[in-house]
Parts: sequence; structure tokens; C-alpha cells
Amino acid sequence: MALLPILHYPDPRLFKKAAKVERVDDTLRCLVADMAETMYAAPGIGLAATQVDVHRQVIVIDVSEDKSQLLTLINPEILQRGEAECISEEGCLSVPGIYEMVKRSHQIRARALNVHGESFELEAEGLLAVCVQHEIDHLHGKVFVDYLSILKRARIKHKLNKLAKLAASSA
Ligand code: NI
Repeated sequence: MALLPILHYPDPRLFKKAAKVERVDDTLRCLVADMAETMYAAPGIGLAATQVDVHRQVIVIDVSEDKSQLLTLINPEILQRGEAECISEEGCLSVPGIYEMVKRSHQIRARALNVHGESFELEAEGLLAVCVQHEIDHLHGKVFVDYLSILKRARIKHKLNKLAKLAASSA
């Protein structure tokens, strides 16, 4: 297992669309294990393959308190969104230090493959539903700051570019 480097917004690779996984094999399971390790180490509650520069439809999520409920979604799709919406504060490992309110469906039903290549359905609400929507967005090349105003997005880009330059000059 290995920790994978996480891309930071506004890296253009975060805007790439991920391709469907054709075959769930040991190589893919190895990627899933590395992604889970990277997510737990960060620490975060969700990570999409796009964020580690692998453009395939793979997501890992764990919203449990004791980090004991790893959920892997391969080729995930949202089948249904509940009518109720919720506004909650989101952050992202690719947008370090930034937390903003985002409006999403409170409840969703999704379908995906698990690490054995078996199809399953997931009904989720609240934090888990928000997390699934956030991570699926990543696979479509979308980052949560895309929901914010142009002005807010510009400020975030400016701040992160400055941080990246600082990090590069001290390296
Ligand atoms: Ni994210």
C-alpha cells in the first residue's frame, strides 16, 4: 500500500472526466487500497480517483466516527435524488483549508460496483448523501467550489496559488 499525492485546485487535471472501469481486478483493488490509505491519512471522509490523478470512476468514502465503514463505489451513478435539499458546509482534500456552504439533495439512491465487481444499490441521506454527490462530481471533473460565486472562486484560486508558490519556494 502507498500514500498517493493529492492534486490541488485549480490543477487542470481535476477538471478531467473519469472513464468507466472495464474490469475490477487486483490492479484496481490495489488502487482502492491506496486511495483508502490516502484518505484516512489525510484525514478525509471521501476521495475520488481523479484527485490522485487516476482518471477512472473509483471513489472511496468513510463517514463513520471510528473509520470502520469503508465504502468503495466503482462506476457510480445516481439513480434518484430526493426532492428535499440541504445546505451544508463542505471541504475537499483538493481545496485545503477552504470550507463553504453547498446546496445538494438531502437523499439519493445510487448504483455502483463493489471491489468484487458486483453491482449494488445504496440509499443514503444527510452527510453520506452529500459525500457521494461531492465525490461523483469529482469523477465528472467538477469541484465543490464550482457551485460558488465567481468572486468567491477567484478568491479561493488566488489563495491556493499563493500557498502553492510559498510551498515551492521553501522546498
Ligand atoms: Ni473533494
